[in-house]
Amino acid sequence: MIVEAQNIYKYYGANLACEDISLSLNQGQVFGLLGPNGAGKSTLVKVLLGLVRASAGTAMINGYRASDTRGRQHAGYLPELFRHYEWLTGYEWLRFNARVYGIPAREEQGAIRRALELIGLKGREQDRIQGYSKGMQQRLALGAAILHRPALVFLDEPTSALDPMGRIEVRDIIGQLKAEGTTIFLNSHLLSEVEMTCTHLGFIRKGRLIASGAREDFMKTCTALRLETGPLAQDLLNYYENQDMVVERDEAGITLRVADREGSARIIREIVECGVPVYQAETLSLGLEEVFLDMMRD
Ligand SMILES: Nc1ncnc2c1ncn2[C@@H]1O[C@H](COP(=O)(O)OP(=O)(O)OP(=O)(O)O)[C@@H](O)[C@H]1O
Ligand SMILES: [Mg+2]
Repeated sequence: MIVEAQNIYKYYGANLACEDISLSLNQGQVFGLLGPNGAGKSTLVKVLLGLVRASAGTAMINGYRASDTRGRQHAGYLPELFRHYEWLTGYEWLRFNARVYGIPAREEQGAIRRALELIGLKGREQDRIQGYSKGMQQRLALGAAILHRPALVFLDEPTSALDPMGRIEVRDIIGQLKAEGTTIFLNSHLLSEVEMTCTHLGFIRKGRLIASGAREDFMKTCTALRLETGPLAQDLLNYYENQDMVVERDEAGITLRVADREGSARIIREIVECGVPVYQAETLSLGLEEVFLDMMRD
């Protein structure tokens, strides 16, 4: 297990930021943690990295307790609020980080070059950081997080400052790290980004991890049946409304949430038995947005 959290609690005064969180990640997984502002995502990452001490529970990364710096040696971290020494150049900042990580002198240049290429800052590395745009600074922070080729990387909203092209580039970088077998822990509010990059998902709400597991398993729960039908009787509509199944309704027909093929067959049968013609039927994936909204509902 590369990441293991057992019954983590974190109080800030009386405020409970993480409540009884247990979680484990295997090597090579890309885990996306989703939840609203203030849900406890960043706190959990900091607890795992040993930057914040849990009030209760155990956190382990790379086989060491979070409090043991040896676990952190093979981890990279892009914080949500990153700070650089702005009077340094990008190159100098990466070199500073390389030395903090203890990268041997003979490997330093190669590591920095690789990071610069990956983050797309080549050509600007001799400029001072104070002259970088917000997005360039975020790229630099990402470069610093992966400089030492860590087995495990925590990315706390890595694309919050990036333009659409930059977001796609970071998605590619994550893909590249994933292909190299890196385990990635990603906090993000961008559902499409998470849907495209993550193998596993977690949903956190008010400090509680309410669900976690393989991405496909969540996506499967969010399929819908789009039907083009004749006019539907109010009784039947009420029946579906009461079960919270209606996704959309319009002149041409209705879109209903379904769990599986049998559910679809049952709905079509019900409608036909009411004497309403069904002209067309199609199964749709509702996407991660629907999964997320479902999870965050009371
Ligand atoms: N250093 C701190 N001192 C006191 N309270 C804190 C501290 N850091 C976080 N909190 C509180 O802990 C809770 C969780 O915050 P956290 O930053 O983990 O949320 P988040 O899910 O990362 O949110 P966001 O999406 O806005 O980044 C919030 O109520 C926040 O106010
Ligand atoms: Mg956060």
